[in-house]
Amino acid sequence: MNEVKEIIEKARMENRTYLLENEAKTIIRAYGIPVTKFEVARNIDEAVECAEKIGYPVVLKILSPDIIHKSDAGGVKVNLKSDEEVKKAYKEIIENVKKYKANARIIGVLVQEYAPEPIAEVIVGMTKDPQFGPAIMFGLGGIFVEVFKDVSFRIAPLTEYDAREMITEIKSYPILTGIRGRPPVDIDKLVDIILKVSKLVIEHPEIDQLDLNPIFAYDKGAKTVDARIILSSSS
Ligand SMILES: Nc1ncnc2c1ncn2[C@@H]1O[C@H](COP(=O)(O)OP(=O)(O)OP(=O)(O)O)[C@@H](O)[C@H]1O
Ligand SMILES: [Mg+2]
Repeated sequence: MNEVKEIIEKARMENRTYLLENEAKTIIRAYGIPVTKFEVARNIDEAVECAEKIGYPVVLKILSPDIIHKSDAGGVKVNLKSDEEVKKAYKEIIENVKKYKANARIIGVLVQEYAPEPIAEVIVGMTKDPQFGPAIMFGLGGIFVEVFKDVSFRIAPLTEYDAREMITEIKSYPILTGIRGRPPVDIDKLVDIILKVSKLVIEHPEIDQLDLNPIFAYDKGAKTVDARIILSSSS
């Protein structure tokens, strides 16, 4: 059984529909989508070991099946530069999460590579349309999606032409091509990510929702910083 099937099976066995961030990132990485390096740490000493293995600076995030919005729970600490900062962040995250949700099951933290500031943050998502099936969404992160609803949709499976059009048709597209002296982002890489998401959701209809948010877009390449996958409740 491949890695993707194994993760889905395990979640099913445990009656979970919400995949943990490391599970979601392992799945998309198996499809060739770039993600931040990550390691699971189950206690404070492991967190330091993982950070040294990945290399500083790192990010720590709560790993819990009961916490979907990690930052709302005080469960995300970014740009940690030393063993001391990792230890402090670990304690604070566990404390914050316990305060936020007393009975949350805590596996530990996900230690990950700190991705440098991007030119732009983008989002690639998928929701199931009851009539047409998997609808892929593209947009720019933050206010562009939340306030302006500046997004594009196509029904999977997508062609390269579809994927490219999804990017060029959003109103905020000029932000990606470089305005006011900013460099353009690697559009080809974003096209590639959208196509890989399309392939993943077509090959795995068990996936009900997917959210790569944010993806950091650079002048060369891109990196998925957070990934959420929800499985359908029926098997
Ligand atoms: N590996 C990373 N490198 C750099 N920045 C990161 C990294 N992981 C997270 N961040 C920053 O922290 C923010 C919150 O992290 P993340 O999206 O994982 O948490 P979240 O709880 O899903 O937040 P939200 O619900 O607001 O999307 C990200 O939008 C990003 O700006
Ligand atoms: Mg997020």
